[in-house]
Amino acid sequence: MGYKDVYDSWKSDPEAFWMDAAKAIDWDQPPSKALFDLGDHMYEWFADAKVNTCYNAVDRHVEAGRGEQTAIIYDSPITHTKREISYVELRNRVANLAGALRAKGVEKGDRVIIYMPMIPEALEAMLACARLGAIHSVVFGGFAANELAVRIDDAKPKAIIAASCGLEPGRVVHYKPLLDGAIDLADHKPDFCVIFQREQEVAQLIEGRDYNWHGFQYGVEPAECVPVEGNHPSYILYTSGTTGAPKGVIRHTAGQLVALNWTMKNIYNVDPGDVFWAASDVGWVVGHSYICYGPLIHGNTTIVFEGKPVGTPDAGTFWRVIEEHKVKTFFTAPTAFRAVKREDPTGEYVKKYDLSGLDQVFLAGERADPDTIVWAQDQLQKPIIDHWWQTELGFPGVCNPVGIELLPVKLGSPSVPLPGYDMKILDDAGNELPRGELGAIVTPLPLPPGTFPNLWNAEDRFKKSYLSNFPGYYETGDAGMIDEDGYLYIMARTDDVINVAGHRLSTGAMEEVLADHPDVAECAVIGVSDSLKGQMPLGFLCLNAGVDRDHAEVVKEVVKSVREKIGPVAAFKLCCVVDRLPKTRSGKILRGTMVSIADSQDYKMPATIDDPAILDEIKVALQGLGYAK
Ligand code: COA
Ligand code: AMP
Repeated sequence: MGYKDVYDSWKSDPEAFWMDAAKAIDWDQPPSKALFDLGDHMYEWFADAKVNTCYNAVDRHVEAGRGEQTAIIYDSPITHTKREISYVELRNRVANLAGALRAKGVEKGDRVIIYMPMIPEALEAMLACARLGAIHSVVFGGFAANELAVRIDDAKPKAIIAASCGLEPGRVVHYKPLLDGAIDLADHKPDFCVIFQREQEVAQLIEGRDYNWHGFQYGVEPAECVPVEGNHPSYILYTSGTTGAPKGVIRHTAGQLVALNWTMKNIYNVDPGDVFWAASDVGWVVGHSYICYGPLIHGNTTIVFEGKPVGTPDAGTFWRVIEEHKVKTFFTAPTAFRAVKREDPTGEYVKKYDLSGLDQVFLAGERADPDTIVWAQDQLQKPIIDHWWQTELGFPGVCNPVGIELLPVKLGSPSVPLPGYDMKILDDAGNELPRGELGAIVTPLPLPPGTFPNLWNAEDRFKKSYLSNFPGYYETGDAGMIDEDGYLYIMARTDDVINVAGHRLSTGAMEEVLADHPDVAECAVIGVSDSLKGQMPLGFLCLNAGVDRDHAEVVKEVVKSVREKIGPVAAFKLCCVVDRLPKTRSGKILRGTMVSIADSQDYKMPATIDDPAILDEIKVALQGLGYAK
């Protein structure tokens, strides 16, 4: 069957399509049906089934005779370490960890925050939670204590599992002080913490609250897999929204199992036993779906890579890992390829490695610019597949489904909707726009299995953010168009979310930090184009009347505050002081116009602008930062 047949089979009978996909999962109690319509545009999938994620990701492969196959390859050029963990070892390690968590009172439904770098123990912690039916929430290591505290207060974890440190090139990330600081800041206090001590930095434990990862497992009884309902939350993953408060995306157990398993062959074109590598981080959705769960559920070997595309030690790292571990499908972010391309434009490192085992490369997380795709095509001589997805969805919505059929690649487009999605382009009034016209990208409800059914503790926000503007549809927050062949083009976000080095960030959250500075009267943060990271945040400050300090000092202080409050990952370094911000007559800041000026793009003078002269002042300020040429 080609793509069209598969897509049509979903469209004509989604219930049968997903029930068929569900056959690949080992159920404790199979679902009686796929879709559960809860009314008011709320849906769940396979809700009446009983199933365990860890059983499907680990134990069943051991029972099926794959115990000796490598489940996880840990490759860390930062620590010069390589290690392989077989499925049977993984089962034993996870069962012990789960047993130790259970002995300390962690049960089905309890939340557990995981704050760990790219080490196999991060996956083991996730799987141990899944084994017990505990709901994990992984927090990315590049966030500051304050962001961790916000997540602790929202998720209210019984336990936190952390590592003593993370390692960035040239810098140790001191996780433990960040963790202690976050717990101090948060109103909610976990019952206990488990600390995995890394040899690069041994953290001080707090007596009575903190347990050593190894010591705490000593002598415990391993835990069996606890079957949970199909609609039991598997995890909460916080992602950036328009305001400073992150959105807690929920994933349900059964939908995640069915959807991720389906994608491994149909999209990523791997069979059980093949090596699949997503070079992302467990703190992001790609890490959840395609470093941890997807490959393991499907019986693949996954790679935990602790390194960077360049500098660890050089721009050949990706190719070395692909050759050495016989990677068949590789998944990374365009920004990573741009970093490699900048150091190795002619592919000298590519030539040093045997990439004959590599069949295809997938890119996601941000727009894949045609230059980067063409460079990768030329160097690797493999299909380079752009695909579009979001934390909310958990797996791609728009993709060239290589495992079903490699469709013609069109540069600048992530290709076509997958089963479960039927992208439409709407104008502001909700009318469908013709092919080729730009508008809001939506897809009809229900979303497919494996996507988010709701936000944690925030159903009103869920409905307001995603369901209310275009009733009956899921609003993606992206704007774009569809061409005459049905290919989608993603052009921009419709909200204040920006994408920096493949990391999703909220300009609203940064504005909240800037506005907190005592000398700042008003501020705005926009995302400007960047040749490496795709976008970079850039801030404008208007200072309070009477502030006669050196402006550079204030700028330095707010840059420091964003790093301290949000984290280094915000990459907030560009900032300037201006007298006024351009606004509409009703007082709305014209961020879009400022972005166009910064990026030296033509723009239309907004009809509602209050004072056009301010735009000239903005241009001069931007030129001072090297923009608006
Ligand atoms: N823990 C702690 N700090 C982290 C971190 C982590 N896990 N990840 C990034 N940071 C820090 C970096 O050290 C950097 O700090 P600095 O300001 O002290 O230099 C800061 O956050 C910004 O990081 P980043 O934007 O990633 O820039 P970089 O210059 O370190 O690296 C790239 C540039 C392109 C090599 C890198 O961004 C990259 O590999 N991107 C791919 C991202 C990706 O795969 N995303 C997943 C989407 S699917
Ligand atoms: P995240 O939730 O971090 O995965 O970020 C999701 C957002 O990243 C999307 O809403 C898009 O704005 C952007 N994005 C992800 N993949 C792509 C892609 N292939 N092309 C263009 N934008 C993308």
